[in-house]
Amino acid sequence: MNEQCTINYGDNKQVSLPMMVGSEGERAIDISTLRKNTGLITLDEAYVNTGSCKSAITYLDGEKGILRYRGYPIEELATKSRFVEVAYLLMYGELPTPKELDAFSGLLNNSSLIHEDMRHFFLAFPNHAHPMGILTTMVASLSSFYPVPEEMSDEEERQVIANLVSQVRTIAAFSYKKFIGEPMIYPSYKLRFVENFLNMMFSSPVQNYQQDPDIVKAIDTFLILHADHEQNCSTSAVRITGSSLANVYAVISAGISALWGQRHGGANQGVISILDEIVTSGDDGRRFIEDAKNKKVRLMGFGHRVYKTFDPRAKIMKELCHKLLNKPGMADPMIDIAMRLEETALSDDYFLSRNLYPNVDFYSGLILKAAGIPFNMFTVLFAIGRTPGWLAHWREMRHDKDNRISRPRQIYVGPPMRNYIPMDKRAGGGRTSLSGRFIADGDTSNPFVKSKRFTETVRNERFIPAPPPDNKPSGPDSSIARG
Ligand code: ACO
Repeated sequence: MNEQCTINYGDNKQVSLPMMVGSEGERAIDISTLRKNTGLITLDEAYVNTGSCKSAITYLDGEKGILRYRGYPIEELATKSRFVEVAYLLMYGELPTPKELDAFSGLLNNSSLIHEDMRHFFLAFPNHAHPMGILTTMVASLSSFYPVPEEMSDEEERQVIANLVSQVRTIAAFSYKKFIGEPMIYPSYKLRFVENFLNMMFSSPVQNYQQDPDIVKAIDTFLILHADHEQNCSTSAVRITGSSLANVYAVISAGISALWGQRHGGANQGVISILDEIVTSGDDGRRFIEDAKNKKVRLMGFGHRVYKTFDPRAKIMKELCHKLLNKPGMADPMIDIAMRLEETALSDDYFLSRNLYPNVDFYSGLILKAAGIPFNMFTVLFAIGRTPGWLAHWREMRHDKDNRISRPRQIYVGPPMRNYIPMDKRAGGGRTSLSGRFIADGDTSNPFVKSKRFTETVRNERFIPAPPPDNKPSGPDSSIARG
């Protein structure tokens, strides 16, 4: 493409930048030579307009609600494929032949155990440790047990990939067993990927787990729908971490950490918290919607950085959710509240004018709940699904000969050069934030100071200890020398 973009700046200066076009027609200004030729950089906080790489894995059009893995529409993959096939597709670019699928499944099966010594690590976590915390730690620990050679052959790379896809699932199930204090159940060569996971989660030495094909299909579809989503927060974390040539287990651990947050993979837990709060407060959802419009709360599972219409994954999730909850004995009143919330939000100008529609997380929590997956495992399930996507991006980057370390720039807004102040001349009463803003003692306007409501929710889940009974913050011990 010969199209150029011309920028005027400074005193009648001009620079021409090449335009590039993707295989689905999306256009971009290639600014890679901008700083070198002009001294200018671009500022795009939260990367709203920034393409960070070229990728051939996933295409999504947020205006039209389109999502495709390697060119295949998500709707077809969700109904016609199994998760293991989709994992292969993401990683290697083509749907596997029966022979290739057989070999890949066999490799996953053979790689599903984790080193016996790693089981001791689980014992050292406190009771009720959050499974996401355990998962991210244990995945980073795999690097010590399964060393990765600096120069990897194709076969070694295939093994590392199989280890991660398979072992993340084993660790996830073990972390749940640790959480509930039951013995860990080993993976079995007799079971397929999802059945194996459910068996490790729910069977015990005294009780066999009865597989329900509808639940197996629902979880398999859940995993497919979460398998990749191009340059989202956690995948970008994976690419940035991987660009330093860090160990691949540490790279995937970074992705898991980024996924944990409420704005990203943690939202599926958030939706169930909201529905639960609405049920217990006797609200029909309208009060909650008003609170969301007044910015007192966020309607989790709604809104998306890229989708400005329905998230295609949310449509599939909603159908799946109805199918599962219509099964005898599986009805859940929460679905009525979810649908009422959706209906109310989608007829409200606040949500419509901001293009806020249900995202993948809105109905997924209900599916997991119906399948018996405990609340604090929801984001872990997301991580199992996303692992092939993270690995596909890591692999794509690894094989890109132009790949360099990711290193964004910034606009410095802190204090200019100033003279050092000796200790006895420093005034108290506040501090300068990292962005240069002076924060007086007691000022809680900083957005990172969490709301009371959020802190309460977290505390209820026993993630953080309650303050001492007299409510006094436990301050530093003045008898301890500091310097
Ligand atoms: N409820 C209420 N208002 C919302 C919501 C929501 N869920 N999401 C966005 N808004 C409002 C914002 O307050 C803002 O309003 P304003 O223009 O009056 O200031 C406007 O919509 C734009 O919102 P931003 O936060 O600027 O949008 P951004 O693209 O940065 O964030 C995000 C996207 C994080 C997904 C946001 O919509 C959100 O927090 N949603 C709830 C959490 C969630 O479901 N996350 C999962 C996303 S999918 C995934 O990661 C798998």
